[in-house]
Amino acid sequence: MAGDLRKKIKEAADYLRNAGVKDPEAGIILGTGLNNYADRIEDSIIIPYNDIPNMHSGNVDSHRGQIIYGRCRGKMVIILAGRYHYYESGDIQAAAFPARVLVELGIRRLIITNAAGCVNRNWRPGTLMLIKDHINLSGANPLIGSNLDEYGPRFPDMTYTYDPDLREKMKKRAAEEGIELNEGVYTMMSGPTFETPAEINMVRCIGGDAVGMSSVPEAIIANHAGKEIIGITFLSNMAAGVLDQPLSGEEVTEASKGIERIFAKAVDIAVEI
Ligand code: HPA
Repeated sequence: MAGDLRKKIKEAADYLRNAGVKDPEAGIILGTGLNNYADRIEDSIIIPYNDIPNMHSGNVDSHRGQIIYGRCRGKMVIILAGRYHYYESGDIQAAAFPARVLVELGIRRLIITNAAGCVNRNWRPGTLMLIKDHINLSGANPLIGSNLDEYGPRFPDMTYTYDPDLREKMKKRAAEEGIELNEGVYTMMSGPTFETPAEINMVRCIGGDAVGMSSVPEAIIANHAGKEIIGITFLSNMAAGVLDQPLSGEEVTEASKGIERIFAKAVDIAVEI
């Protein structure tokens, strides 16, 4: 089992190295509606997920399904434009696989982005949240199974998953740039249903500020391997039941269009610091 997974990770990473990916400093995972950030990359190499061994491409329209490698703010970065979600098959290993490949490629920092519902009543949609911590309500964990000891320990500590020093720097730089960046707790639910109003009340009671269907598997994998992690959430809508109106997937992608400039600035800062 472990041998199989190890082999699959190395096959995908070798494919990317042969395609020209060399020593990326940071990995960036772009969430729903946020893929246009990839256009900022200079001297880029673009590799479709479909060409990469063992990589699932996913099927959500608002995702490009590409890896983009190139220069961003003076650093070599590797971008995953589009993610394969746990809800697509119930296979948590498939959802975590791209993060495992980034770890194998030697990134130092993982920048995770996502769109999420806003649970905190004091905040508003159309703003960004810096992830301080997460609550995993997905019921799954990609480290279940044999541990791959060469990446990290069997029982990884998660006290400082979202690097505290980097969070301070992010908040300082965002304030200088006039970007509203609240710090909060991301809660992962499996999806694909949006939550019920009762579930959102529960999330608020247990300390969640935002709710989404991704990111936690990737953070678990990167933290296991001792990588620096910065998480940026785009609050695309008030979570279910906060307003007296239904939610739709289209609303999430539409909302992201108004935030592109601020989102790009926030990710630029996450690369630079
Ligand atoms: N719930 C879960 N995932 C989401 C939401 C939401 O309200 N908005 C964007 N992704």
